[in-house]
Amino acid sequence: MSFERFGPAERERLHRAGRAAAATLAWVGAQLRPGITTADIDRWVREDTQRRGGVPSQLGYHGFPAAVCTSVDEVVCHGIPSRTRVLREGNIVNVDCTTLLDGFHGDTSATFCIGVVSPHAARLVEIARRCRDAGIAVVRHGARVGDIGAAIEELAKAEGVSVVRNIGGHGIGRLMHTAPHVEHVGKRGAGPRLVEGMALTIEPMINAGGADYVELDDGWTIVTADGSLSAQFEHTMIVTREGVEITTQPPDTEHVRMVAPP
Ligand code: MF3
Ligand code: CO
Ligand code: CO
Repeated sequence: MSFERFGPAERERLHRAGRAAAATLAWVGAQLRPGITTADIDRWVREDTQRRGGVPSQLGYHGFPAAVCTSVDEVVCHGIPSRTRVLREGNIVNVDCTTLLDGFHGDTSATFCIGVVSPHAARLVEIARRCRDAGIAVVRHGARVGDIGAAIEELAKAEGVSVVRNIGGHGIGRLMHTAPHVEHVGKRGAGPRLVEGMALTIEPMINAGGADYVELDDGWTIVTADGSLSAQFEHTMIVTREGVEITTQPPDTEHVRMVAPP
C-alpha cells in the first residue's frame, strides 16, 4: 500500500492550514466558560476561521450541519452544536476544529474543562492528552500504523481507561479524511508503514468506562454505551525521518489575544 507524500511547498501549506486550525481552537478555548452554549462555539469557529482566510472543513461534510464538533461529557465525538446545550461548571467539552486553507486541511481538537471539574474528569482529560502524545512519540519514517495503536492502548490499559475502536485518525492533505485509517489500538510492527512526507492525524477517544459506543438518532453524535465520560485530543502531523512535524501546534496565548477581535 502506498500513501500520498508531500513535498516542501505542500508541507508549507499543510503547516499554514494547521496553524490556522490551532489558532482557532486556542481562541475558542480561551472563551469557554459556564453559561455559553455549544452553538456559541460554532459561531466563534465560523468567525475566526473566516478571519484567518480559511473555511471550516466540517461544515456540510457528508451533511454535517455545523462548522465544529462539540462533544460534552459522555459524548465521544461528532457532537452537533446546539443553542439549547448550555455548558455548566464541571462539564468537559471536546472542541474539534478543522480548517481548509489554500487547498489543504488542518485538523485539531482538545478537551477543555468548564470551571472546576471532578478529579475523575480532570484525570481522564490528562490521560487522553498523554495517549495522543504517546501515539505521536512513535511516529517516524519506517514506523508502522500498528505502533501508534499499541503505544496508546498500552498507556490507556495501565491507567485503567479504554480506547474507542473503529473511529480513528486518518491521512489528511487536500482531503480532510484520506488513507490510511489510524486505529488507536494495535499491534507493534503491524499495519501499513509510515513514510517521510505523509500527513496524518492522531486523535484517540478515551473512555473512563468501557470502550463501547452508540450513535444517536441524529446520525452523528457518538456517546459511550455505559454513559461514562470520554475525552479526546487531536493533532495533525507530517512524518519525517526523525519523527514528526506537528502542523497544529497551539500558538502562545499572547498571539491568540493579539489577532482576536475585542
Ligand atoms: N474533525 C473530525 C476528525 O477529527 C471530523 C469530523 S467529521 C464531521 O476527523 F463531519 F463530523 F465533522
Ligand atoms: Co481528524
Ligand atoms: Co478533528
